[in-house]
Amino acid sequence: MSELAIFGGEPAVTYVGTGKNDGSDMFKWPVVTDEDRAAVLDVINKGAMSGTDITREFEREFCEWMGAKYALGTNNGTAALHAAMFACGLGRGDEIICPSITFWASCTSAYSLGATVVFADVDPETLCLDPKKLEEKITDKTKAIMVVHYCAHPADMDAIMAIAKKHNLKVIEDVSHAQGGKYKGKMLGTIGDIGAASLMSGKSFAIGEAGMLWTDNQEIYERAVAFGSYERFYTYEMQSEELKKYAGAPLGGFKHRMHQVSAAMGRVQLRHYDDRCAEINKAVKYFEAGIKDIPGIRLVHVDESDGSTMAGWYVPVIRYNPDELGGLSITRFCEAMRAEGVSVNPGVNRPLHTHPVHTMADVYHDGKPTYRAFSDRDIREGDKDLSVSSIINEQAFFLPWFKHYRPEIIDQYIAAFKKVVENHKELLEGDKGNQGTLGGWFRFNHAKKS
Ligand SMILES: Cc1ncc(COP(=O)(O)O)c(C=O)c1O
Repeated sequence: MSELAIFGGEPAVTYVGTGKNDGSDMFKWPVVTDEDRAAVLDVINKGAMSGTDITREFEREFCEWMGAKYALGTNNGTAALHAAMFACGLGRGDEIICPSITFWASCTSAYSLGATVVFADVDPETLCLDPKKLEEKITDKTKAIMVVHYCAHPADMDAIMAIAKKHNLKVIEDVSHAQGGKYKGKMLGTIGDIGAASLMSGKSFAIGEAGMLWTDNQEIYERAVAFGSYERFYTYEMQSEELKKYAGAPLGGFKHRMHQVSAAMGRVQLRHYDDRCAEINKAVKYFEAGIKDIPGIRLVHVDESDGSTMAGWYVPVIRYNPDELGGLSITRFCEAMRAEGVSVNPGVNRPLHTHPVHTMADVYHDGKPTYRAFSDRDIREGDKDLSVSSIINEQAFFLPWFKHYRPEIIDQYIAAFKKVVENHKELLEGDKGNQGTLGGWFRFNHAKKS
């Protein structure tokens, strides 16, 4: 009988979380202690859920940690990004450039501002916006670039900022996957004009449904406040004479206020965040060293020699090369890995440029697809060159995200990869190839790949 579990062998990963100190919290996140519980209970006991006092404290501490002048807590990351786009002046007929491989919230709310989304390709090494493919996407309508530090990897900010400067464009950093990560010693989110992030429970900085934006630019900050935070949109909080005229009601008509239960938890989580990320970093590095000589797979990582880091390692990505494994499809590979006890599925985020929301939906009754409601050209014509984004899901998948440095458990994962790769020839026979659309955290309704 084959050694492979898919053919009846013993699975390589034998540990199952059943109780204390046996590895059951290996993947559990966030780490919640009595300190979090006390802070959250205090908010509830005081009935302070809808206030802003704790959120302002959290913002102040977040600013200190980030090294930013202003921060604004929001009720989710989507709201933070929406406000950031408005704050950067995005409006009717403008274009924002966004990588196709990201979560929809990085860009989709641009349509509600009357702007449209132009997709750019990602770098095959980092899976972040590829600066080499960026400039060709710029037109006289381009107002901003959305940079996503995808799965904790810092984007190539020097090159992106140089292009933005040349064309006088605003840069928004979506730090939802990379809170606390650094690029050349600088905190991610402090290099462009504004940073914004999701802090929802699935993220590495995880405090419930919450978001944050931050900037050094007072004008940008005030516009973000004016958009969806009426409770601090008062004349005495604003320097801008223009904005003061409208103080008291949000310009966007949105209410973005952060729930203070999240803010209270955020203050506690922040105190421990860097240490917890350091442990994750150690765990992932240990795993990486263990798989480095295994053909067909490698971990997407950052070269740390210049002070760049991947804080939190939010869902580490494995690049898969079928050519090194006799053409074995990623689907078959992942199937064999799951049988070994490693929870992996083919693909990462699905490309956004093929999603019907970005190709056909007439959301606001303009009599034409929303993406070109205020555009005088069909910007989707330019999507043909998104070659990396179009095939990345056949060549990458998410690794279970270790939260603790426990070599004896991580060794089992390394052994599972070794075993499947060493025996990959046995898998070729039953390989039906990749079926349907791969990737995606949620069941996106994507058009079939042509
Ligand atoms: C890259 C990215 N941007 C934005 C968001 C949206 O944040 P939220 O879910 O908090 O609204 C997410 C995920 O949730 C994300 O992964």
